[in-house]
Amino acid sequence: MRDYAVYPFPEVGAFVALTHVAATEQESDQLETLLSNCEEARDSLIPLLQEIQTQYHYLPEFALRRVASKLNISVTDVYQVATFYSCFSLEPVGKHVVQVCLGTACHVRGAPRVLDRMLRDLKLSAPGTTADMQFTVRSVRCVGCCGLAPVVRVDDNTHPNLTQAKVRGMLKRYQSKEACPADSADETADAEARINP
Ligand code: FES
Repeated sequence: MRDYAVYPFPEVGAFVALTHVAATEQESDQLETLLSNCEEARDSLIPLLQEIQTQYHYLPEFALRRVASKLNISVTDVYQVATFYSCFSLEPVGKHVVQVCLGTACHVRGAPRVLDRMLRDLKLSAPGTTADMQFTVRSVRCVGCCGLAPVVRVDDNTHPNLTQAKVRGMLKRYQSKEACPADSADETADAEARINP
């Protein structure tokens, strides 16, 4: 189990919770490999952060500082970009990010019960990350396909018309496979076809 701690960012007058105290040797090597393939220009910032987010599933504090020094920009600038885009996270997130839509259409069609069931199955008392770092559950407002309500997004996959009874099976498919389960890809394609016939 890795050590985590509240770590200050004095440059921006903020405290960022739950970031690595320090990089391991392997993490440093991985980061240097990423950095060696990028141009030392500010334009490289967002693609670089995307690669780091993909690699670590969040943006560790040591990586933000190293990116700032590599691109010769301030930590404040890096932090502002890292906190502006919702695709970036400053806290460790699970291997799979589950977004349960609680927008109006999903809410009236049972989304709160789907969320309750999901939290119970994952042994979470509230939206957050499971102890085994497999899932991060978030509640969101409208993912743009209200006709398929209630909707849950897992990573890049859309699960339409979800019910409490389908939750466990859906989670199991992600638990047992490394990436996007084939049937979830089918569901996503099916959902997209129904949104854009
Ligand atoms: S309210 Fe859930 S997709 Fe719009």
